[in-house]
Amino acid sequence: MLYRNANVSNILGIETSCDDTGCGIVSTEGKLLGEGLFSQQKYHTELGGIIPPIAKSLHKEHIDKVVNDALKSSSLDMSQVDAVAVTVKPGLQLSLAVGVDYAKKLCSQFKKPLIPIHHMEAHALTIRMLEKVDFPFLVLLISGGHSLIAVAKSVDKFLLLGKSCDDAPGEALDKIARRLKVFNLEGMEGLSGGKAIEILAKQGNYNAFLLGEPLLQQRDCDFSFAGVKNSARQFILEQEETFSIEGDQILPTVHDLCASTQFVIAKHLCHRIQRAMAFCQLNQLIPNDKQSLVVSGGVASNKAIKAALWKVCQAYDYSLHVPPPQLCTDNGVMIAWNGVERWIANVGIVPHGQLASVDFQGKAELGEDIRAEVARASIKCKWIQLNDIFENKSSSLSQGSV
Ligand code: KG4
Ligand code: ZN
Repeated sequence: MLYRNANVSNILGIETSCDDTGCGIVSTEGKLLGEGLFSQQKYHTELGGIIPPIAKSLHKEHIDKVVNDALKSSSLDMSQVDAVAVTVKPGLQLSLAVGVDYAKKLCSQFKKPLIPIHHMEAHALTIRMLEKVDFPFLVLLISGGHSLIAVAKSVDKFLLLGKSCDDAPGEALDKIARRLKVFNLEGMEGLSGGKAIEILAKQGNYNAFLLGEPLLQQRDCDFSFAGVKNSARQFILEQEETFSIEGDQILPTVHDLCASTQFVIAKHLCHRIQRAMAFCQLNQLIPNDKQSLVVSGGVASNKAIKAALWKVCQAYDYSLHVPPPQLCTDNGVMIAWNGVERWIANVGIVPHGQLASVDFQGKAELGEDIRAEVARASIKCKWIQLNDIFENKSSSLSQGSV
């Protein structure tokens, strides 16, 4: 059997940086051997957001089962696991602590080395488990907690080109969705805010509400989503007054508001990526004949955003690579794969005798920050037109709703 091959190693990965308790086991051949996952989303949706002490106690309650589920589904035991990888940064301190403590205990009990993992590095590298994407490549990570653009030069070397100055796109989508009360609509219960907005936007007019694009005057690759959230809230307030909305009632223009929000977020992401591609070209950071864009994080599962990014890729001769939704959102498999990448490259492996040196860190940038250099280049772009992707000819609700 595969794991009995002396040249193949098996890495177990643990993820608890936010609100998902995940475990995956992946071989150095890139085979997914087993996994376990417990999502806390429904608890946090009910509470209106993530409350760190609650996330911590849910991780504690489920981590043992999640790791055992992964082992059971792989038919391996700990003697057949060669190392344990665990997310140590960035994330909620209380949540990170649960996974790191658990991984340390596992390593100490079974005398295994530990591989500390940067959560965003894991998101960036996941695609390499599934597709041939060579270094260096451009990466866009968009989730509920993060948004950044980086060049992945090698397993542990990244250049940070841009990041959000305030909210992450998923965070803005989640807050707007809650403000619109979309979870009261049939079929929307239990979905993430971003997913609910994606579904509702299909019946809306993206041009109905003009939410201003953020940071248009700044010729860099940074993001801002707090302004989008605030203008959406302003439009919602005005609409609620216009339609005398009370209590749990939903605005008749909810689809248009979702479509307009999704459009401005997609446009902002595409414009920043377009400038990043131009910056990479100017500085020869990525060979012309091998240009790849990797997009990951929960928001990367949005089909309209993906289609818009694909259009930018076509114009700049990039190939687009997006992991399937279950690997875009937080999971243990991506941590195990990152462990495999580090194991093969032999970087950042902590022997079990040195476990005390491993700690977690709530905040941590990914790689070398060259955002100031990007801003200094002040690249002006002729924007790729995205409107055709968001046209919705079947919309009936949007007529006359402005
Ligand atoms: O990566 P993830 O599972 O967790 C972290 O934030 O790290 O991402 C979750 C985020 C949520 O904000 C959710 O609203 C957003 O991803 N999301 C989406 C979609 N599915 C999930 N946003 C837009 N469109 C989607 N289809
Ligand atoms: Zn994540």
